[in-house]
Amino acid sequence: MATNETIRTLMKRRSIRAFTDQPVSEGEVEALERAAQHAASSRYFNDWSAIRVTDPEVAGRLAQLGHQDYIAQAPLLYVFLIDERRNAHLAGAQGVDTSSDRFIFNTGYVFLQGQNDAILALHAMETAANSLDLGCVILGSVINDVDALIDLLHLPALVYPVLGLAIGHPGQEPDLKPRMDPPAQIFENRYPELDAEGRTQDERAGRALADFDQVVKRYYMDIRHMDAPRRSFSEIIADQAVNPGAAHEPMLPSIQRQGFHLDR
Ligand SMILES: Cc1cc2nc3c(=O)[nH]c(=O)nc-3n(C[C@H](O)[C@H](O)[C@H](O)COP(=O)(O)O)c2cc1C
Repeated sequence: MATNETIRTLMKRRSIRAFTDQPVSEGEVEALERAAQHAASSRYFNDWSAIRVTDPEVAGRLAQLGHQDYIAQAPLLYVFLIDERRNAHLAGAQGVDTSSDRFIFNTGYVFLQGQNDAILALHAMETAANSLDLGCVILGSVINDVDALIDLLHLPALVYPVLGLAIGHPGQEPDLKPRMDPPAQIFENRYPELDAEGRTQDERAGRALADFDQVVKRYYMDIRHMDAPRRSFSEIIADQAVNPGAAHEPMLPSIQRQGFHLDR
């Protein structure tokens, strides 16, 4: 396998959920934000924004919403947003009627486009942070209660939260979590045939998936955390398949509240 600094950074990426007190320097913050801004943007809309959370009260509230204390302890914390408001404003100022049916920045397609852009930017920031030996954890938990988050961050219409990102100097050295062998996840030209039970007919993919069950089980036995599940990947997924988690409220009403029409 070819390698270089960037590949090595990506291959040793893992989530960090404990940070030292050492602050992230101004120069590092600037580099991270510029790297995020330089991510690709669909149709060059640049339709994402991020809120840097520096107020401990807001960070504390985010930790409450996410039910994760380490959110409040992160030296650097962002919430990434789909942001069609800025472009709606710019278009409106150019004379576009943003209430007409021809206006597209409130449609499902553009909503997803903004979400893609926001996630690409977040990932660029994460990779840049890792390359500076900072640790990160992506925070889906901040959208457990989307309406509360919208209120907390004063998000106007056409702005919708996507994910949080906590960054700091690592205060832990967790093992890398295993990943599937590529044949189970990366296919060639078409999706592999499935049998009646939904199992793949591609022998290599099937074997890689069966192996992964054992690898995950061994991984959890090896780390010996009291709360580690010690189950195969299949067993973990079966459990999660019927576990609504914290985010059990339907999201559509909150998306509509922000002025998006996903059916358009
Ligand atoms: C969209 C997304 C949301 C996530 N949300 C959380 C979260 O709220 N809290 C958390 O501790 N980890 C969160 N994670 C991190 C995953 O749990 C982690 O990536 C996964 O367990 C694999 O571990 P690794 O990142 O160490 O390889 C999230 C990851 C992604 C991609």
